[in-house]
Amino acid sequence: MSKNKTYSSALAHPIFEYISKSAKQLQLETYVIGGFVRDFFLERDTPKDIDIVAIGSGIQLAKAVAELLPNKPKVQVFKTYGTAMLRFDDIEVEFVGARKESYSEDSRNPVVENGTLQDDQNRRDFTINALALSLNEANYGYLLDPFNGISDLQNKIIKTPLNPDITFSDDPLRMLRAIRFATQLNFTIAPESLEAIKRNAARIDIITRERIVEELHKIMRSPVPSVGFILLHKTKLLERFLPELTNLEGVEEVEGQKHKDNFYHTLEVVDNIAKHTNDLWLRWAALLHDIGKAPTKKFDKKNGWTFHGHEFVGSRMVYKLFKRLKMPLNNKMKFVQKMVLLSSRPIILASEVTDSAVRRLIFDAGEDLESLMTLCEADITTKNPSRFKKYHNNFKIVRQKFKEVEERDHIRNFQPPISGELIMETFNLKPCKEIGLIKDAIKEAILDGKIANDYEEAYRFMLKRAEKLGLKKQS
Ligand code: CTP
Repeated sequence: MSKNKTYSSALAHPIFEYISKSAKQLQLETYVIGGFVRDFFLERDTPKDIDIVAIGSGIQLAKAVAELLPNKPKVQVFKTYGTAMLRFDDIEVEFVGARKESYSEDSRNPVVENGTLQDDQNRRDFTINALALSLNEANYGYLLDPFNGISDLQNKIIKTPLNPDITFSDDPLRMLRAIRFATQLNFTIAPESLEAIKRNAARIDIITRERIVEELHKIMRSPVPSVGFILLHKTKLLERFLPELTNLEGVEEVEGQKHKDNFYHTLEVVDNIAKHTNDLWLRWAALLHDIGKAPTKKFDKKNGWTFHGHEFVGSRMVYKLFKRLKMPLNNKMKFVQKMVLLSSRPIILASEVTDSAVRRLIFDAGEDLESLMTLCEADITTKNPSRFKKYHNNFKIVRQKFKEVEERDHIRNFQPPISGELIMETFNLKPCKEIGLIKDAIKEAILDGKIANDYEEAYRFMLKRAEKLGLKKQS
């Protein structure tokens, strides 16, 4: 790839012909710009959206294109932003008139004026996102690259086209975007841009939590998420929206005893799990699995450093964190809480495998047992090779045990062998707390291995337990 060249092959998608035709009819200079062009040169997967810039009205162009398209798609107009969007095949095509923007200190909403292509490229976030290809008949496919974006692509550099203080202060979300692109693409942020992020970090506070989370998700979905989290930490952005994580940083030493740095340990766990799962929420669970360690950390002479109950405290913190960041408070959050709560259970099992502990874990983890094991295996970050091997071996034994116990006891989809109705009928009861007590006692007896998970044994056990409660069987 080089500057001053024509890249018609980038414009193979049929939509470009329609746009070009409409632009010609309207006598509008038109370009494709941004992520689509960048991803063409990076040979990334076909993108899901295309950004079109017209020197004039983008909305008018969008409407004309929609008219020409065989399926006559609906045009969504966003008047305040002067943009319009239509869908063609699986692709979202966004149209905007070239513009010049200036921002005020306390707002993300710019003052907008019509501008030239160069004005529009100036207002873009990064040199690699300011590349444009002409859709005009005279030079169809010609590359316009005023900031050497192509050489930044080749050198794997994220750099703002203008003074980075202006670019980031104009739209502070771009600080996160810089870090997100660096993580996704394995690029480096240019030193002056990185310094500007540090200087402007506090400006992130004007960005909505939803948009921050969207970028965090993209970092989380990257092959090596720690790249992003280390940059977020270095630039002091992370502490502004995820202080629970930055509170884990640091190693304390008392009487020659140290604990590990739980921040960097956590990042290793996230990288490990990213090799084994694409499940976004399981990756989040890895990121949050130790957050309870900061508030529970204690040192005493007898036991050294302890984090008693950190799993429980951590799972409570997950709720507050999700709420604060406006993340969904649904079963995704419950899953993350569950993983955090159970995150130490398999490792305890690994040192002493008893049938009843295995049954209890199968019961508590239910359908998420495999996810939990994936998390716990990722949690092994010891640098001591013999310990590493030993822990993984122990987990193999635990997995084998899961299989044996599950085949025998069918705990995973546990259904109480005795129903509440049967208890009521047998002892002529109206709804009351004794029913719950009996049901619970049966479940506990099964999990402890005192009785088998079957009707006969559970029925006999129920009679005994009820007798202790002073209940009499109806004849
Ligand atoms: N852009 C910008 N500042 C932002 C967001 C976007 O300058 N805060 C510009 C960039 O030129 C970007 C284009 O708008 O390339 C399109 O933005 P968007 O679709 O959000 O991102 P992409 O670059 O396409 O990348 P991705 O889809 O991975 O987010």
